[in-house]
Amino acid sequence: MVKRYFALVNILIVGSGGREHALSWKLSQSRKVDTIFTVPGNGGTPNNLSIDADDPDGLIDFAKKNNCFTVVGPEAPLAAGIVDEFNSNNLKIFGPSRKAAQLESSKIWAKNFMRRNGISTSRFEIFDDAQKAKKYLESLDYNVVVKADGLAAGKGVIVCNSDDEARLAIDTILVKKTFGDAGNRIIIEERIDGIEASYIALSDGSVAIPMATSQDHKRIFDGDKGPNTGGMGAYSPTPVIDDLLAKKIQEEIIDKTILAMKNEGIQFKGFLYAGIMIRDNEPFVLEYNVRMGDPECQPIMMRMDFDLYDYLEASIDGTLSSMPQPAWKKESAVCVVLASEGYPGSYPSNEEISGFDSVPNDVCVFHAGTKRRDGKILSNGGRVLGVTALGDSLESAISNAYGAVEKISWPHKYCRKDIGQKGLAYF
Ligand SMILES: Nc1ncnc2c1ncn2[C@@H]1O[C@H](COP(=O)(O)OP(=O)(O)O)[C@@H](O)[C@H]1O
Ligand SMILES: [Mg+2]
Repeated sequence: MVKRYFALVNILIVGSGGREHALSWKLSQSRKVDTIFTVPGNGGTPNNLSIDADDPDGLIDFAKKNNCFTVVGPEAPLAAGIVDEFNSNNLKIFGPSRKAAQLESSKIWAKNFMRRNGISTSRFEIFDDAQKAKKYLESLDYNVVVKADGLAAGKGVIVCNSDDEARLAIDTILVKKTFGDAGNRIIIEERIDGIEASYIALSDGSVAIPMATSQDHKRIFDGDKGPNTGGMGAYSPTPVIDDLLAKKIQEEIIDKTILAMKNEGIQFKGFLYAGIMIRDNEPFVLEYNVRMGDPECQPIMMRMDFDLYDYLEASIDGTLSSMPQPAWKKESAVCVVLASEGYPGSYPSNEEISGFDSVPNDVCVFHAGTKRRDGKILSNGGRVLGVTALGDSLESAISNAYGAVEKISWPHKYCRKDIGQKGLAYF
């Protein structure tokens, strides 16, 4: 019997996406972790609880009784202050406080924060009046992006190709209120045409250590065509962020953000995700997220060569600076999202998925929109599965992932055929 000098903890994961399944998969490998519970979870996550995921009291009660270390996946509970509530009950919970989560929950707050702290982002103005916003458009000689201030489930951003489209976007958000109160105010910002990538770091409020680089594929169709989605696939690492650019982003965006937050009296603990647009080798922050990306999390977890639990604990305890530099597998990882045909519009659900047993053991099939019923796995959402594979090169990771994708089927399965190709084309 191996001697242990630490107590085992249970983990409570809040969320129901592929990201949460990937986090639970990685955390289950920790020698310090005992049982993992998920709320509400999906067809692949361990020990789904039937308590209300939106009720902090129920979650707090469960975490207390079961000695849980809680990990929050999505932004909504963070923005609602779940971390503050757990902390005031002396419970360990990983993620930013409500105030720190403003970096994501209010795009206006984030833009103003970047402006006053000299963090690279596109030029912008803020409006609550459609007439004034349209007048401002006339003074510009560049294309714009119109953004609703608040959380809009990834739909509140309209990238415009003309003034007509921009006027329509202003009306959609400010007049028609398509995104409700999230659209009480808007940002009109310069459209940056460049290459988009994701830069994610882990912070304890004082320092931030980089996670592996990655690139998402946000549009529904091959070649980045069609409407935006939650993300149709991702790979890691990405050649788009080379070592020099990574250093620049780390120092001039991530470290600067963490320090500026601290100076403003807000400790940022958790995953800090900067959505970056790179133009002429200059990085611009499009937005912050205050949690792991989904699907970026899936390939990042597969390449992670250290005990995630130790680092999440260090983030909470403020001891990241004394942790060893995190190690990453040399291999590339690719996650292909399998969706229900019709997504991001309407799509059928409750279709039985088959083929899981034919997938090679070293490929991870992370569940997202699935549920279990009578021993079967049924589709239960737009993004259904994230098939994630390693490979010695990006090319071989792509072929391993798509090899496994072939094995899985259901009537209205849809996926992009070109996940990772942007990385190959970059060389
Ligand atoms: N200033 C910009 N210039 C060009 N494209 C942008 C800009 N801002 C956002 N986008 C595009 O719109 C997408 C969504 O915008 P983002 O700010 O990330 O909001 P969210 O993820 O909340 O929808 C981005 O992934 C990017 O492709
Ligand atoms: Mg985004």
